[in-house]
Amino acid sequence: MWKKLVIGNDHAALALKNEIMDYLKGKGYEVINVGTDSPESFPYPISGYRAAKMVASGEADAGILICGTGLGISLAANKVNGIRCCVCSEPYTARMSRQHNNANMLAFGARVVGLDLAKMIVDEWLATEFEGGRHQVRVDMIMEIEQKQSLEAADKETGRVN
Ligand code: RB5
Repeated sequence: MWKKLVIGNDHAALALKNEIMDYLKGKGYEVINVGTDSPESFPYPISGYRAAKMVASGEADAGILICGTGLGISLAANKVNGIRCCVCSEPYTARMSRQHNNANMLAFGARVVGLDLAKMIVDEWLATEFEGGRHQVRVDMIMEIEQKQSLEAADKETGRVN
């Protein structure tokens, strides 16, 4: 059961971020806000990266990201090793992203979902456990891609030095 969540947003999602943050705090979660608190234009990759780093390092148990669509901020988060961030615009995919994909970050769009739907998505996501078993094998395969890329990068680096 997760207790400490990190939340990130850009300018398009400021109002929804505040509502969801209050909602989660009301449910007893500790919520670390690394998004923008200003309506001024703010690049979503910064919030996505900040939040993803906290999840990858274990400083937060899991993370929730909100931008206009949920797309850009999830793309940024998924560049961080160890992150599986899924964009979910309804509760079914939110549940499956936990059950089958062991998502450790959830993203959605403030211009896509309203507050009530966002709460349902968040509730479903937080309440669902990873099933493991055959799904663990597939998730491991996804994560192996990261290791392959690291090895290839290290190999190239060595080539340059020698
Ligand atoms: C900002 O206008 C918008 O591009 C951003 O919030 C997000 O939807 C990007 O994926």
